[in-house]
Amino acid sequence: MKTILITGGAGFIGSHVVRLFINKYPDYKIVNLDKLTYAGNLENLTDVENAPNYVFEKADIVDAQSIFELFNKYSFDGVIHLAAESHVDRSIANPMEFINTNVIGTINLLNAAKASWGNTEGKRFYHISTDEVYGSLGEDGLFTETTAYDPRSPYSAAKASSDHFVRAWHHTYNMPVVISNCSNNYGPNQFPEKLLPLFINNIIQNKPLPVYGKGENVRDWLYVIDHAAAIDLIYHKGKNGETYNIGGHNEWKNLDLIKVLCKIMDQKLGRDSGTSEKLISYVKDRAGHDMRYAIDASKIQKELGWTPSLQFEEGLDKTIDWYLENKAWIENVTSGEYQKYYQEQYEKR
Ligand code: NAD
Ligand code: DAU
Repeated sequence: MKTILITGGAGFIGSHVVRLFINKYPDYKIVNLDKLTYAGNLENLTDVENAPNYVFEKADIVDAQSIFELFNKYSFDGVIHLAAESHVDRSIANPMEFINTNVIGTINLLNAAKASWGNTEGKRFYHISTDEVYGSLGEDGLFTETTAYDPRSPYSAAKASSDHFVRAWHHTYNMPVVISNCSNNYGPNQFPEKLLPLFINNIIQNKPLPVYGKGENVRDWLYVIDHAAAIDLIYHKGKNGETYNIGGHNEWKNLDLIKVLCKIMDQKLGRDSGTSEKLISYVKDRAGHDMRYAIDASKIQKELGWTPSLQFEEGLDKTIDWYLENKAWIENVTSGEYQKYYQEQYEKR
C-alpha cells in the first residue's frame, strides 16, 4: 500500500484532490495534512471522512518539527503539496503570512522528504503552483512552461520563490519533483472571498458586487474537477524535473463574466432581468492588479493527453447550483472573523 501525503486537503482544490484519490485509489493510504486556517474546512470532506484509506492530520507546515514527525510516522511514498495562503488581496494586506506558509512551509516539506527518502526510487514530490508566477500578459500571447518568471504580488512572489526552491532541491539533491502551474479555478467549495463565489453569495444576499477598477482584467477559468484530474495525471505520469501548465482555454474579461453571472442568477432566483447587474459597484482597483493571464496548455495535452472535460457554461451552472444548494456551508465558513475582515476590506475600497 502506498502512503500519499496531500497538504492543504481541507481547502478548495485540495478537497477535490483528496476525494479523487480516496475514491480512485483504494489501495493508497491518503494522509491529509492541513492547519485548518479560515480557508480549510473539514466540512468539504464529510462524504469521504470515514473511508478506510483516509487519515486527517491537523498540522502547520511552518512547524518543521511536526512535519518531520509526520514523515517518520507515515514514511510517505509521495507528496502532493497544495497547502498555501492563496488569496492575492490578503497577501497585499499581510505578506509575511504568505512568505511563512508558501516559502518556509514548502522548504520544511522538502527537507522532511529529503531526510525521509534515503532511496528516492518510486518517490515523488509534486508541488502545485499558479500561472501568476509568470506575471501579467498584454492583449496577446500565452504563458508557456518556458516563460520567464515575473511575479508581481506578494502571493505570486511567494509562490514563485517556492517553485524555485522545489527546482533547487531537484537539481542539488536529486529530489524527484514535478511542478504544475494552473490558471484560475472555480467550482464547489471555493471560499467566498474569490471572485465567483463572492459574487454569487453577494447576489443571493442582495449585496454590492465590488468590481476592481474598470473590470477589464482577464482571467482564464478552469473547473476545479478538471484541475484535480490533471493533478492525478501529472502525479502518476509526469516526468521528474518537469513543469506542466494547466489552463482552461477559457479567457474572460471580469466584467463580461460578471454580467453573464448576473443574468444566470436572475433566472435561477426568479428575479427580473437586470436585477443583479444593478448590484455592480466599481471600487478602487487592486494594488498592482495583473491585467491578463492566459495559459498555453499544449504540453500537458500532447505529453499526457489531458484536456478540460467541461464546457464553461456547464461548469458555471453546476457551480451556481452548488452554492444555491449549500447556503449552510456558506453561512458556516463566512461566520465569525471573516465577516469582520470582509467588512474592513470593502469599506477600505
Ligand atoms: P485554499 O486557500 O482554498 O486552501 C488552502 C489550504 O491550505 C487550506 O485548507 C488551509 O487550511 C491550508 N493551509 C494554509 N496554510 C497552511 C499551513 N501553514 N499549514 C498547513 N495547511 C495550511 O487554496 P486553493 O485555492 O485550494 O489553492 C490550493 C493550491 O493551489 C495553492 O497552493 C494555490 O497556490 C494553488 N493554486 C490555486 C489556484 C486557484 O485558482 N484557486 C490556481 C492555481 C494554483
Ligand atoms: O491564476 C491563478 C490564481 O487565481 C491562483 O493562484 C490564486 O490562488 C487565485 O486566488 C486566483 O487569483 P486571482 O487574483 O486571479 O483571483 P480572484 O478571484 O481574487 O480575482 C479574479 C479577478 O477578479 C481579478 O482580476 C480581481 C477581480 N476581483 C476579485 C475580487 C475578489 C474583483 O474585481 N472584485 C473582487 O471582489
